[in-house]
Amino acid sequence: MLSYRHAYHAGNPADVFKHAVLVAVVRAMQEKPRGIQFVDTHAGPALYRLADAEAQKNREYDVGIGHWWSQQPDDPIMADYLELVRSFNPSGRLECYPGSPMILRQLLRRNDRMVLCELHPAEQRKLHQRFGDDARVELRLGDGYQALRKVLPPPGGRGLVLIDPSYERKDEWDDMHRALQAALQRFAHGVYLIWYPLLADHAASLDALPNLLNLDQERWLDLRVEFPPEQRLGRMTGCGMALINCPFRARAGLDRLARDWSGSVRP
Ligand SMILES: C[S@@+](CC[C@H](N)C(=O)[O-])C[C@H]1O[C@@H](n2cnc3c(N)ncnc32)[C@H](O)[C@@H]1O
Repeated sequence: MLSYRHAYHAGNPADVFKHAVLVAVVRAMQEKPRGIQFVDTHAGPALYRLADAEAQKNREYDVGIGHWWSQQPDDPIMADYLELVRSFNPSGRLECYPGSPMILRQLLRRNDRMVLCELHPAEQRKLHQRFGDDARVELRLGDGYQALRKVLPPPGGRGLVLIDPSYERKDEWDDMHRALQAALQRFAHGVYLIWYPLLADHAASLDALPNLLNLDQERWLDLRVEFPPEQRLGRMTGCGMALINCPFRARAGLDRLARDWSGSVRP
């Protein structure tokens, strides 16, 4: 049984980095008019009230979105992401944090669609309340890795897949590897984003993935950020976003974002 609930972590520095990268990649893909299918294999409940007990427990958002909230960053990716988060807080006070499904829905154009997958029954109920009546959203309330076999290739030939697991299970990496292998066979030119934690006592294990998946280096972009000490959360010292087939026009901005991260987040 899954015990992880993202509400305890919403808006932390890892969410900020992940969601800023997500927004930048979606924007780059949307420079072309043809519709896109977005798949969120590990959706979570999608919207978080920061006054709720879960978010208040460790207040991880304080060193994440709370830190950025009043800033006007020069970096265009961070500025764009912050504007999107602010649109969920019309009072001007930081009250809500949008998860990846809400961010994606905010970015959907008329001809885009999205698929949300989630395994935890409580999070499934929230997704159902929040997206059940939206015709552009398909809910697949089950295993996100299995769902990829059903939803790829996307109907119009363009798609992005976000893989953002909770890493609760030892065999997570094996499942992900197998799912990506199958997904790339069905949809080789899709854009894939994979979030992963950097842990103090654990080497990141994505290094082997390009070889395992037979990917040329130019199709692989591994962005890693080390959090400054005041932003570290337990064993998590930073995080990474690995991208397969990153849109060319997003690449330079994302490289810059990851490079500048530690410097730019300091007050
Ligand atoms: C890190 S959270 C997702 C956060 C979300 N992507 C966001 O950025 O707002 C991971 C979620 O995946 C769910 N989950 C875990 N294993 C899963 C699986 N095999 N398939 C679908 N969902 C899964 C968990 O219940 C949890 O809600």
